[in-house]
This record gives sequence, structure tokens and C-alpha cells, in this order.
Amino acid sequence: MINRIIETVKKAGEIILSAHNQEFAVTAKEGKKNFVTKYDVAVQDFLFDELGKAFPEAEFVGEESDNDFGSRALRFIIDPIDGTTNFMQDFRCSCISVALCKENEVIAGVVYNPYTKEIFSAEKSKGAYLNGEKITVSDRLLSDGLALFGTSPYHPENTDETFALLRKVFDFSRDIRRSGSAAYDICTVACGRCEVFFEKGLQPWDIAAGTLILNEAGGVALTYGGKEIDFSTPNDVVFANPKAYDEFVTLL
Ligand code: IPD
Ligand code: CA
Repeated sequence: MINRIIETVKKAGEIILSAHNQEFAVTAKEGKKNFVTKYDVAVQDFLFDELGKAFPEAEFVGEESDNDFGSRALRFIIDPIDGTTNFMQDFRCSCISVALCKENEVIAGVVYNPYTKEIFSAEKSKGAYLNGEKITVSDRLLSDGLALFGTSPYHPENTDETFALLRKVFDFSRDIRRSGSAAYDICTVACGRCEVFFEKGLQPWDIAAGTLILNEAGGVALTYGGKEIDFSTPNDVVFANPKAYDEFVTLL
């Protein structure tokens, strides 16, 4: 199952790589910062078609479609390009994120960064992998480590709270980083390069695949309120190794 998803996602990555130096055909969605390109749509169409052939019993939810959940037991939750603003500017840090859920639980997740050729994957209870090698979260404290954050760019009502918390995290940790792709940020914590990632108002397709990968790598994925993440609604989320999580929540 996971291999079929990985192969399809890798092929979809070629669409992203083919885009450079071409007309992106950008259209705005909502607000000042939210865009979609013809490539977001092309990657999503490709994934829906190819995964639909392999998993005909599944339904599909994607960032660039209606986003309505149906009633089928198997459901893909897909972000065709996580990091669209990076993509539009050729910043070269964007990922494809594909989660397969059964009865509302993520059972497989794949996050692919086509620029670095990093493929993060996990199946429920089978561990997490980067390009086929097992990965785990770091053992570092946040006070001795790095924190990743998202700016919640489509929700200006969150900005003050995000930057107030960021100031505390910056003071507490070694330093902070911002990649522009939440899916990649979660996987960066999962493979032990950073200790914490946090952002308010993330959508299910930004985080569903990453959440399984992080959990299978030994990490903690919860809402700011300490609840399980609900993949049918936006969430304020923290992804961390267990030690760093305990420190992070004291800053909230
Ligand atoms: C966005 C990215 C970004 C995060 C935003 C997300 P998109 O996803 O993950 O890092 O800060 O909150 O919406 O819109 O590029 O798919
Ligand atoms: Ca997207």
C-alpha cells in the first residue's frame, strides 16, 4: 500500500519540478496572502486520478477541491503543494502531502520534497522512514534546540498571539526557523533536526500525513489545548519530541 502511494507521489513531484521558469498562472483564493497556481491543481488532479485507480474504494479530500468529507471508510487527505508561496517564488521548499485515513484515523502518510528528493513515510505501527531509512525524533530539550514555527499567514487575527509566543520560544531555545511548508516542518521534527514545530489554524491537509510520520517517529502531536488533533477542522498545533513538548507547553 505505502509503496504505491510513494511511487505516485514521486511522479507527481515531477510536475512541481517541471514548473520552473514557466508561467505559474496564479489566482488569489481568499485574503491578501492566499494563492493557488495551475500547478497546485495539476498535481492534485494527477494524485486524485492515479490514487483513485489504485484505491477505488477511497474518497478524496484536497486543498484545491470542495473539501467535503463523505461517508466512505477510506479517505485520502491531500495537499498537492504545501508551500505554495515558496513555489511561486522559486524558493524551493514545497512538499506534496498525502494521508490515507481509515474510519477517521490516519493509517499511512507520505510527505515528499521534490527539490531535495526527501520522501518521508509512515504506516500505522510500522515506524517512520526517510528515503527508506528509519527515523526518530531527537532527544534534545527545546532549551538546547531549535524551534520551527508557522506564521498562520491566512489568518491575520492570529498574528499577535503567534508573534508573542514566538518571542518566548526564541528566548527559551537556541534559535527559531521558518520553512514555509508545514508538512516539511513536521517531518523536520520527526527526523530529529529540530525539536518543536508550532502554528495556529493549520488545515487537515497541511498536517494529516505529517502527524502519523511524527507519531511513528516517537513524537508528540497535539493541539495547543493538549487534545488529539481533529482532521475534519483547522487546528492550533504543536509537534515535538516528548521532552521539548513538556517545555513548550509551559510557554503557551
Ligand atoms: C501553508 C504552508 C505554510 C503555513 C500555512 C499553510 P499552503 O500551506 O504550510 O508554511 O504557514 O499556514 O497554509 O497554503 O502553502 O498549502
Ligand atoms: Ca497547498
